[in-house]
Amino acid sequence: MKLFSTVVLASALAVSGQALAGDAAAGKSAYAAKGCIGCHGAGGKSVVPTYPSLTGKDAAFVKQNLTDFRAGKRQNPTMNAMAAGLSDADIDNLAAYIGGL
Ligand code: HEC
Repeated sequence: MKLFSTVVLASALAVSGQALAGDAAAGKSAYAAKGCIGCHGAGGKSVVPTYPSLTGKDAAFVKQNLTDFRAGKRQNPTMNAMAAGLSDADIDNLAAYIGGL
């Protein structure tokens, strides 16, 4: 039982470590290169009401939602198309960058 809880704790730490593994500098480049900036604005501050601002959204939220858009679990034709081209590393990097805005 004690061994079991140690294993559970160790894997929980491994998972949260991964969530922080994104590279914010690479995410910043991808945010511009992949066109996110065109809708969500420089520094995540959207100037178009149709597009949500991303400032203040934390990295875990961004990662979860980009993963859900990519999988079609969260549906929005624009974001489903945008997320379709993202790799797991892109999502981690974008989450690290946006989470810090
Ligand atoms: C053509 C415009 C457009 C582009 C380009 C775009 N988005 Fe979006 N994004 C949207 C819209 C519209 C929504 C709101 C979708 C909805 O209502 O479900 C959204 C939602 C989101 C959300 C969820 C925000 C929330 O509060 O729930 C995230 C995160 C996000 N976009 C990230 C990105 C990233 C990262 C990129 C670049 C890879 C990107 N978007 C490119 C239009 C765009």
